[in-house]
Amino acid sequence: MQLFKKHTKAQFFINFILVTSSFCGFYVIISLLILGSSNSKLLQHLHHSSSQDVSTISTNTTLDHIVFGIASSKSSWTKRKDYVKLWWKTNNAMKGCVFMDSISNEDDPSSLPPLCLSRDTSRFRYTFKGGLRSAIRVARVVVETVALNHSNVRWYVFGDDDTIFLPENLVKTLSKYDHELWYYIGAHSEIYEQNRLFGFGMAFGGAGFAISSSLANVLAKVFDSCLERYHHLYGSDGRVYSCLAELGVGLTHEPGFHQVDLNGNTFGLLAAHPVTPLLSLHHPDYTDPIFPNMTTTQALQHLFKAVNVDSQRMLQQTICYDKWFSWTISVSWGYAVQVFPSHMFLPDVVNVQETFKQWKQGNVWAKTYTFNTRPLHHDPCKRSTIFYLDNVSFGEDGMITSYYKKSFQNCSNELGSPNKLEVIKVVTNKLDLDIKQLQAPRRHCCDVLPSSASDQLEISVRECKDEELIFMH
Ligand SMILES: *[C@@H]1O[C@H](CO)[C@@H](O)[C@H](O)[C@H]1NC(C)=O
Ligand SMILES: *[C@@H]1O[C@H](CO)[C@@H](O)[C@H](O)[C@H]1NC(C)=O
Ligand SMILES: *[C@@H]1O[C@H](CO)[C@@H](O)[C@H](O)[C@H]1NC(C)=O
Ligand SMILES: *[C@@H]1O[C@H](CO)[C@@H](O)[C@H](O)[C@H]1NC(C)=O
Ligand SMILES: *[C@@H]1O[C@H](CO)[C@@H](O)[C@H](O)[C@H]1NC(C)=O
Repeated sequence: MQLFKKHTKAQFFINFILVTSSFCGFYVIISLLILGSSNSKLLQHLHHSSSQDVSTISTNTTLDHIVFGIASSKSSWTKRKDYVKLWWKTNNAMKGCVFMDSISNEDDPSSLPPLCLSRDTSRFRYTFKGGLRSAIRVARVVVETVALNHSNVRWYVFGDDDTIFLPENLVKTLSKYDHELWYYIGAHSEIYEQNRLFGFGMAFGGAGFAISSSLANVLAKVFDSCLERYHHLYGSDGRVYSCLAELGVGLTHEPGFHQVDLNGNTFGLLAAHPVTPLLSLHHPDYTDPIFPNMTTTQALQHLFKAVNVDSQRMLQQTICYDKWFSWTISVSWGYAVQVFPSHMFLPDVVNVQETFKQWKQGNVWAKTYTFNTRPLHHDPCKRSTIFYLDNVSFGEDGMITSYYKKSFQNCSNELGSPNKLEVIKVVTNKLDLDIKQLQAPRRHCCDVLPSSASDQLEISVRECKDEELIFMH
């Protein structure tokens, strides 16, 4: 009984489906015949838009998807355009504008971004005592960069005229994130006190920061209303941060951006870069030239010789040991190699050496940093011997060779000290991080190679093996 009942039920359903589906098929055929060409247009349109969606999602992020908004002024541009020239790629490879308070004739427009005149901001109040009301004009760079109306934009990147970006690394880093979601990406200051005052959640403007296009389009619409409310704030970055906070968006921290709120010699900071692509440097006018015997601009141009060969490996720190002499060798690729005359544990080597002076005089917090630092050893013979980048080249075998030359000698008589070394040669392949390596970075390993000359040390940098540990053994 039961079986029979089921059978008839099933048959009924099959008949029902056959009838309805043939009716549907009939209907479709009829409507196709009737609608004819208009229907095929509709199908074409559907096909077109879906293929467009797929392509925008699946293609890799490139420089073409980024629009830069650089804040400058007539008084600073003359000097600082040299910094922008370092990283701005010509021949329309990059999009964006330098926002000025007034524009005079540009002498060398081909190698620099176009200049845009900032809109009038006199209608906004500025009530921070002792501050500069240009903060409003600079904050509105966000709005005015969006208003450039570029198409196919995924990211807006903002910075000052003394922010030195590494564009390829920006592209790589931003490609980790979905630009269709709301992202505000940047870094805070090196100084605890600055972050306490301005906010740990604020992307410091000089370090540069990125806003996804989906968020920037909304921010641009509401920004002026925020400016009215935050007249009491000091800077432009605080205004952007406050408005994003009102939109409910927090900071995504990327430690490759560098505000560089430091004075003097930034060697210690640069030599111990976190394992993440270098995205920016800032405040070159407040810090010593990063290479000895060079002007600030010459030194940065020298650094960019390495950036142009392997942007992603810039400053990446690798540690290895010379067993024979018990030396600890720290390679900060593209910048410097240090040889410490003794055995050091890895966590000590990756701490930032305090080579710099504090940003501003003040209370104890003014020299409290947001990372671990260690003082330089009081005995010059216990400090590292520093070898600075001399040259870097791409070999035919695809390997990259960089040479580092000893800069000065402060300790002359120690037996087995690294003093007799003059040159360090470092061999690597070109770094091209994939999405997984960007999301879960790992430091590379290095080996000391048998050297061909007694005054030369040769090092090869490579990916570590699965269970490889970096220690002296
Ligand atoms: C996207 O980038 C990855 C990693 O760099 C690369 O392997 C892949 O070929 C790229 N895809 C396209 C379509 O360019
Ligand atoms: C951008 O588009 C908006 C709205 O369509 C328009 O008001 C504005 O003038 C355009 N800006 C530029 C620089 O073309
Ligand atoms: C690179 O520098 C090393 C020493 O620092 C030197 O021996 C070599 O000739 C230089 N190579 C080039 C191509 O300049
Ligand atoms: C810097 O210049 C001084 C004096 O001209 C020279 O003795 C020294 O070797 C130079 N240092 C480097 C790293 O070139
Ligand atoms: C080396 O000695 C010079 C001159 O005495 C000094 O200016 C410099 O700071 C010293 N450098 C290091 C790393 O000790």
